[in-house]
Amino acid sequence: MKKFLLFLGAPGSGKGTQAQKLQNKYGICQISTGDLLREVIARKTDLGKKVANYVHNGELVPDEVIVEIVKDKLAQDKDIKENGFILDGFPRTVRQADLLRKVLQDNNMQLEAVVFFEIDLETIVKRILGRLTCAKCGKIYNSYNNLPAQEGQCDVCGGKVARRVDDTEEKIRKRFSIYKEQTEPLLGYYEDSLIKIAGDKDLNAIFEDLEEIVSAKINA
Ligand code: AP5
Repeated sequence: MKKFLLFLGAPGSGKGTQAQKLQNKYGICQISTGDLLREVIARKTDLGKKVANYVHNGELVPDEVIVEIVKDKLAQDKDIKENGFILDGFPRTVRQADLLRKVLQDNNMQLEAVVFFEIDLETIVKRILGRLTCAKCGKIYNSYNNLPAQEGQCDVCGGKVARRVDDTEEKIRKRFSIYKEQTEPLLGYYEDSLIKIAGDKDLNAIFEDLEEIVSAKINA
C-alpha cells in the first residue's frame, strides 16, 4: 500500500521539519507547497512575480494557482507514484481541500492519515525567528539548536542558508491569523481521519510519535 499523508498545522508548527525526516528515512515524498512556490519565485517568470507578492507578504496564493502547481507535481514526479507523499502546507482552505479530493480521486489515490501539529502562537514566533532555510534544497535549520556545520552553507547541497523573507515577527503573526481564519476550519473538514500530535515537544520525540502513527500504514 502507498503512503498518502497530510500534515496540518500553523506556520512554524514543525510540519516541514518532520516531513523531511520521514522522507529521509522512509522515502515518502515531501510535497511542500511553500517550497514549490519559492521555486516558482526563483525562476522570475511572470507567474513567479505574481506569486512573490503573496508569499513575501505572508498572504495565501489564490486557490486556482496553488492547485495547478500541486496537480503538476503529482503528475510529473515518478517517486510520488511509487512511494506516496506527505502533503505539507496544502490544503489551506476548504476550497483547496475540495479540489484536492477531486485530484486524488482522478489519480486513484486516498489519504491514509491527516496529522495535526498542535502548538501555541508564542512558541511558533520564537521558533520561526530562529529558523534558517536553504534557498536551494529547502533544508530547515534553526539558530537555537540546529545550525549547519559551516555558517551560511547547507550541509546537504552547499546552498545558501538564510532567513526567509516572510519570517519577520510581523509577518509570522499575520500568517498565523490567516491560518486561524482560513486553515483551521480544515480540522472539522478532516474530523474523521484527524490524528493530533503535540507540536511543542522535542523534535525527536515528535518524530517517534509520528513513526508510531504511520508505521501501521508504512508496513501495510
Ligand atoms: P510555507 O513554506 O508552507 O510556510 P508555513 O505554512 O508558514 O509553514 P512554515 O514553513 O513556516 O512552518 P513548518 O510547520 O513547516 O515549520 P518548520 O518545520 O519549518 O508557506 C509559505 C507561504 O507560501 C505561505 O505564507 C503562503 O504565502 C504560500 N503558500 C504555501 N502553501 C500555500 C497554499 N496551500 N495555499 C496558498 N498559499 C500557500 O519549523 C519551524 C522552525 O522550528 C524551524 O527552524 C525548525 O528547525 C524548528 N523546529 C521544528 N520543530 C521543532 C521542535 N519540535 N522543537 C524546536 N524547534 C523545532
